[in-house]
Amino acid sequence: MLKLRFIGDPILRRDTEPVREFDKQLKDFVKNMIKKMHHEDGIGLAAPQIGHSKKVLVVDISGIEEDEVPRAFINPEIISSEGEVVIEEGCLSIPEVREDVSRPEIIRLKYTNEEGQVFEEEFDGWMARVLQHEIDHLNGILFVDLISPIKRQLLINQKMLPEKY
Ligand code: NI
Repeated sequence: MLKLRFIGDPILRRDTEPVREFDKQLKDFVKNMIKKMHHEDGIGLAAPQIGHSKKVLVVDISGIEEDEVPRAFINPEIISSEGEVVIEEGCLSIPEVREDVSRPEIIRLKYTNEEGQVFEEEFDGWMARVLQHEIDHLNGILFVDLISPIKRQLLINQKMLPEKY
């Protein structure tokens, strides 16, 4: 199974490459990512977290919202956003740490699915939150970058974050 990468691993800070080939290899990759996300009890997973610098993420919030199914978002791009809401976040790559993060409440997203079909769709609630967290991963950004420097220093002092987070 794919190996999870943790904070401090340089791949989590790298920018990612867009996907250009929508082939069987990509579909298999998406399937493996969904399997890994479920195995880790996560609601979202981005490709860099399993060591691949490409613009692929998966989300499954069916445990929170019952009409949802596992979904893949390839080459996602936030077109616009509105509102602001504070929600507590965690990350499979930063075990034990949970902190409040403020982000836009509603986003409009352009993305491609694993079949190569392009969509433009609006998301709110949990979906908007998880998508923004995972899209940050595709740009080398971690949620602990968005918390206050004081809280972050506290986490470093408590050894919950590495010195070079
Ligand atoms: Ni994460």
